[in-house]
Amino acid sequence: MAPLDQTRKASRQTASGDRGFAARLLAWYDAHHRDLPWRVTPGAFARGVRADPYRVWMSEVMLQQTTVEAVKAYFRNFVEKWPTVEALAAAPAEDVMKAWAGLGYYSRARNLKACADLVALRGGGFPDTEAGLRELPGIGAYTAAAIAAIAFDRPAAVVDGNVERVMTRLYSVETPLSEAKAEIRALVEKLVPLARPGDFAQAMMDLGATICTPKRPRCMLCPVREGCSAILSGDPERFPVRLPKDDKPLRRGAAFVAERDDGAILLRKRPDKGLLGGMTEVPTTGWTARIDGATTADAALFPAAWRRVGQIGHVFTHFALELDVFHAQVKGDAPAGHFWSLAHEISGEALPTVMKKVIEAAIPGATKKRRPQ
Ligand code: ADE
Repeated sequence: MAPLDQTRKASRQTASGDRGFAARLLAWYDAHHRDLPWRVTPGAFARGVRADPYRVWMSEVMLQQTTVEAVKAYFRNFVEKWPTVEALAAAPAEDVMKAWAGLGYYSRARNLKACADLVALRGGGFPDTEAGLRELPGIGAYTAAAIAAIAFDRPAAVVDGNVERVMTRLYSVETPLSEAKAEIRALVEKLVPLARPGDFAQAMMDLGATICTPKRPRCMLCPVREGCSAILSGDPERFPVRLPKDDKPLRRGAAFVAERDDGAILLRKRPDKGLLGGMTEVPTTGWTARIDGATTADAALFPAAWRRVGQIGHVFTHFALELDVFHAQVKGDAPAGHFWSLAHEISGEALPTVMKKVIEAAIPGATKKRRPQ
């Protein structure tokens, strides 16, 4: 190791003030880590086994706003279809959007593709520092730190929601969470070890997900309970402290499922920019806070025997949406900008979850039919 590194190592370990914390946490992780499809076994880095940066990057982008359980199947499907960054770069964007459908927050899929294109163009290697990673599309501070730590064993402070909960409990942080980000980060920086920082990051996530849970934390099983200030307070669930939440505004609209005699459904592609950009939808009215006539059958793209079949709800980051769903049997050509998707092709369209709910409300099972083998 270079002298500079040795100096850094010594000062970091002194600064941390608690070398035992990382040791206890890592010993627990070795025994109790979750087996996840993008992980290598704990301690692998020290044995020269490296996590594939492509897989780490892919998993971290998918996990940005989605649960581990929901991501697993998508991750497996993506790496099976596109095992390398070059393969993903060579794939048509439309295929990537289709494979992403249902995972939500679709700008992530567009950024995933843009990032793969750029990395492949530059020769296929991901940058191995937080600063280098942050320059790539779709990689913010959290994701850069996670990739740098997990794929390149950099001692980066990786702070996601789980880690925030663990830290605010360990230190009884009274600052409301939305204002405590810098404080939490500084606390994590002091704990990150120079040995196995990638495992440390994942161990913190696992601790938050399986022991230090939002409700009824399992403190008796916690490997770092001795240093935990919230246990002493007797009410660990009080942390993190949160400011009262504003309710999300409600928007309304109508969605029109036009079905042909052969089961085909009329669809269109959303504009590339904006909410659900580039995804596929059935024709809908605008989504508005108003409750006048703009969201009834009168607002359909064309006249037909529209029948109201129900209402679906979906919650986006900034608003909740209620859509009245109308259905009609229709004949004829697709209007400009629209297309007929055949019954067995609907399941392969890039339909976001909200649109799957709409179509299922009108034609149960329609989004699950597959082409006969
Ligand atoms: N959430 C975000 N990144 C994760 C990871 N690498 N493992 C488990 N949960 C995560």
